Amino acid sequence: MTNQDDQFKKVVSHAKEYGYVFQSSEIYDGLSAVYDYAQNGAELKKNIRDYWWKAVVQMHDNIVGIDSSIFMHPTTWKASGHVDAFNDPLIDNKDSKKRYRADVLIEDYCAKIEGKIDKEVDKAAKRFGDAFNKEEFISTNPRVVGYYDKIKTILSRMAKSLESEDLADVKALIEELEIADPLTGSRNWTEVKQFNLMFGTKLGASAESAMDLYLRPETAQGIFVNFLNVQKTGRMKIPFGIAQTGKAFRNEIVARQFIFRMREFEQMEMQFFIKPGTQKEWFEHWKETRMKWHLSLGMGDENYRFHDHEKLAHYADAATDIEFKFPFGFKELEGIHSRTDFDLKQHEEFSGKKLQYFDHETNESYTPYVLETSIGLDRMFLAVFSNALVEEELDNNTTRTVLKLPAVLAPVKAAILPLVKKDGLPEIARQIMDDLKWDFNVAYDEKDAVGRRYRRQDANGTPFCITVDHDTLEDQTVTIRHRDTMEQTRVKIEDLRDLIKKEVDMKSWLKKI
Ligand code: GAP
Repeated sequence: MTNQDDQFKKVVSHAKEYGYVFQSSEIYDGLSAVYDYAQNGAELKKNIRDYWWKAVVQMHDNIVGIDSSIFMHPTTWKASGHVDAFNDPLIDNKDSKKRYRADVLIEDYCAKIEGKIDKEVDKAAKRFGDAFNKEEFISTNPRVVGYYDKIKTILSRMAKSLESEDLADVKALIEELEIADPLTGSRNWTEVKQFNLMFGTKLGASAESAMDLYLRPETAQGIFVNFLNVQKTGRMKIPFGIAQTGKAFRNEIVARQFIFRMREFEQMEMQFFIKPGTQKEWFEHWKETRMKWHLSLGMGDENYRFHDHEKLAHYADAATDIEFKFPFGFKELEGIHSRTDFDLKQHEEFSGKKLQYFDHETNESYTPYVLETSIGLDRMFLAVFSNALVEEELDNNTTRTVLKLPAVLAPVKAAILPLVKKDGLPEIARQIMDDLKWDFNVAYDEKDAVGRRYRRQDANGTPFCITVDHDTLEDQTVTIRHRDTMEQTRVKIEDLRDLIKKEVDMKSWLKKI
């Protein structure tokens, strides 16, 4: 097992042990690629959603939020292109009977080459020490340059074959690269076929009158079909945005990597309506703005990168992903797409209703272009959670497990701990908790020695522990311990609220954007 697999296993088991994420219907052996958020997970997820909503909606006077339904008229999906083109190329292994996404097999092959590049870079960094210049090394070292060329050639051939629906060539590429079933090593593959990812369902009581529906595979279409309603009732002027968060459903072929790729998941999307011809500037604007949002959480600038799409979706004229370094490597976290006027034009055509914007200044009507930002809430959860989980060596030769969640996102902001369960200390601790709970999600813990309680809260991601001891009875002060530094200071009870607020308040975090 590699270090990466090991680290990822720890992430999954920690998420379960500390009440973040459970397998759905676990008592019935679970449901593949479907997960439940537990008591801490639901809080963390809500905080991420709020952080996004505040940054995107509340901080922009020209962006509003909606909450459209999961069920939509079936023609929506004909118009959007999902009925005909929302497919993944699948391939089966004839020996293992396992099903894979052909493009993912090829991408994983390229990720292995990237792993080799990382190794070369590490070796060279050790060899050259302080004099090492990474940029120069990767652009001049013949072996590394060769690896990059190989990746580029493979990915552009795959993009071309997928674009032109040449599935035979996708299979040929898998064979030429000698890609084997990751589980069994077999290279006995079927042909590559297209597989539609939408879940079908029925609406209506009787078999005769029931209407065939789909569970929405993205939240974006709920925004497009409401474009004119929102524009008119909100008296919105271009450029303006409509945002929403909500569930989406995809019958993913490859259901692995925990909450990275789920069949039921949540998206946070924003469609920004702009004047045709201005899409290049807005594309750059939203790339930069969204990257700043990510970086504001302090999860390491080196863990993010842009990846421009070679193969554009049927609706886009430019697209990039913000990729994050997950425990299994750099993968897509958010997509930024210049969607042109594709969606509005399609809905106009299929509904027969005009979906145009009338510009009072120029006295002209036009179909706006759209710039989309789309991030998976569960994927963001995984990025935050996996990045936060660390094992630390301590001075006394012990280790601690600590979940260094950005304080603004932590489910519980402070735990209040009476040193002992007597002498009136629990009563004071409860009083502190009752005062703080109006502003923060706080917890009370009196079980076990205080050192063990600290460890428990570290592993839970709680940024502060507040300990009530016998001195508190005399001088109304408590010890406040910081999760990341383990530093302890003595403070007045009356100052606690402001001290915690300074660290966890969304305002100060959002100001970094
Ligand atoms: N409206 C555009 C759209 O849906 P997408 O790239 O298919 O674009 C956007 O999805 C984001 O949704 C992705 O960047 C990812 O974070 C998230 N996402 C997509 N499929 C997912 C899945 N099966 N499980 C979890 N998150 C997913």
